[in-house]
Amino acid sequence: MSEVVRTLKDGYWDHTTVIRASKGTLRVRKESRDTETPGPWAHEALRNEISYLENLPTPAANFFPPLLSSWEEDTIGYEIPYYQDRSDLARLVLDGIPGPADCEEIQNQLADAVLGGLHSAEQVGGAPFCAHLEAILSESLETLSAVEVFEPIVNGTRLHLNGHPVPGLRASLARLRASGILKHLAREPSVRLHGDLILENMLWSPLLLIDPVSVAGLTMGHPLFDLVKHESYARGELYAIREELVTAGRLPDGSYTLEIPWGAEALQPFDRIDLTVGFRKEFIRQHGEINPHFYHLIDAYFSLVMARNTTGLHQFARVLKGCQGLARAGDPDPVLPS
Ligand SMILES: Nc1ncnc2c1ncn2[C@@H]1O[C@H](COP(=O)(O)OP(=O)(O)O)[C@@H](O)[C@H]1O
Ligand SMILES: [Mg+2]
Repeated sequence: MSEVVRTLKDGYWDHTTVIRASKGTLRVRKESRDTETPGPWAHEALRNEISYLENLPTPAANFFPPLLSSWEEDTIGYEIPYYQDRSDLARLVLDGIPGPADCEEIQNQLADAVLGGLHSAEQVGGAPFCAHLEAILSESLETLSAVEVFEPIVNGTRLHLNGHPVPGLRASLARLRASGILKHLAREPSVRLHGDLILENMLWSPLLLIDPVSVAGLTMGHPLFDLVKHESYARGELYAIREELVTAGRLPDGSYTLEIPWGAEALQPFDRIDLTVGFRKEFIRQHGEINPHFYHLIDAYFSLVMARNTTGLHQFARVLKGCQGLARAGDPDPVLPS
């Protein structure tokens, strides 16, 4: 019998613990929650994660932990070694640990793991990825339009966000469909993704990627999927939203506001590091110039997927960010975040 040493994370749908296996070695066990109401992707996600780790492309395998065991019985779960001397990069950044030279090395290894290891492995047609994006966006819009406070953001033809007019979510999606941008995206190849490329899922040092596969179970998709996710976390934006450091809501005049307080003490650690510039440079070298329509579309997709699984201020911020992103995606001349 194995003994639980401590809990690393109580996730939405699963929990991650350190256990002492036979012979005293420590392992990390990730297991589905025995819940009556699993989220829409609960079990599928862990199943996908196991199959992902079982089928890593060779050049990426060294950047992931080995799968020690996995099961699918009353619960679904797997075990990997516990890396006692490596911390996740979110923790290290918040503690102010990585200096400029570390940041450069982290990005070099990230480029080797993600661009050289995963994205170079195999390519398939992009139509299923694009269909997935579109289906999830439509589903999210339906779910959100049933929530009273979000209904006008979904169905309004024009609203004001941060002082600028933007189409409502449904109008933005219709404009995107009409623009040909989605058709263009469907013609771009899909590659093997990490799928949840955030600092919390990178152990250091050296770099080890953990917790692969997106919340909706995607393992193949447009390479920007990984870049956008990484950048939004490493810049502090995702952290600010999750920690509810943001201002998000409807003002008395009926307009909306979404502000990230970049001057706040809690966000300073992200200001002191650069984990994005070098990686983006390598990304462009491999994949070519970034299409800003696609960038914003994928960013909006992340926001709207998570808007279905969150509550309160966090959820409001996700909905407004999704609205902003989808509007930018269909803008004839969008600006790429730098
Ligand atoms: N094998 C491991 N060794 C050391 N720390 C780990 C390991 N696996 C996970 N962790 C820590 O636990 C956290 C949560 O694990 P993760 O697999 O990312 O679960 P979740 O799906 O809940 O995000 C990670 O961010 C990291 O800090
Ligand atoms: Mg994680």
